[in-house]
Amino acid sequence: MDSHDANRIGAAILLTALAVAGSAWMGRLAVPAIIPPRPAFALPEPPGGAAGPSLADALAHADPRAGQLLAARTCAICHSFTRGAPPTVGPNLSGVAGTPIADVPGYVFSPALSAHRSEFWTDDALATWLESPARFAPGTRMAFPGLPDIRDRAAIIAYLHTLSDGGRQP
Ligand code: HEC
Repeated sequence: MDSHDANRIGAAILLTALAVAGSAWMGRLAVPAIIPPRPAFALPEPPGGAAGPSLADALAHADPRAGQLLAARTCAICHSFTRGAPPTVGPNLSGVAGTPIADVPGYVFSPALSAHRSEFWTDDALATWLESPARFAPGTRMAFPGLPDIRDRAAIIAYLHTLSDGGRQP
């Protein structure tokens, strides 16, 4: 290795060091180490917020007709919605909205649901019940897993309202 080679190796090392230092400096210039106080742009909120619409919101947009179709598919195997029709597996649901819980003459409710008898089927109570009957009344005989989507629950509640005229009339 003569002095010429040594010079070339030295130059190469020097150039490499300069390139590394230079790119580090440019990197710091391009991406500041300090986090800016405000994000450069706002991410859009998911529609209706992360937790979905509130019950009041969902009810305001609920379509009773969609609720009727959903009830025909998911509830009618066990419930009648026709006034005066006899109970099937579950009690007749015509006029249930707003009335006391577990209080249909001639229908024997489970002790689990009967424990709520001092309460009323408000929209809130119906929504909680229909989200998960087993959570609302552990031990209930309503063998139905629940409707996870608040819009489905609201549609059914809106439909139940159309079957009420101020009191239950079995
Ligand atoms: C597999 C049968 C079954 C299905 C499906 C079912 N239910 Fe029920 N439901 C019952 C039974 C049984 C009871 C009585 C529960 C008890 O005594 O614990 C009941 C009770 C109720 C009550 C309480 C009535 C009262 O007078 O207190 C409401 C409200 C109700 N169901 C609504 C619904 C709706 C709405 C759907 C459809 C989304 C539905 N149920 C689906 C069987 C069912």
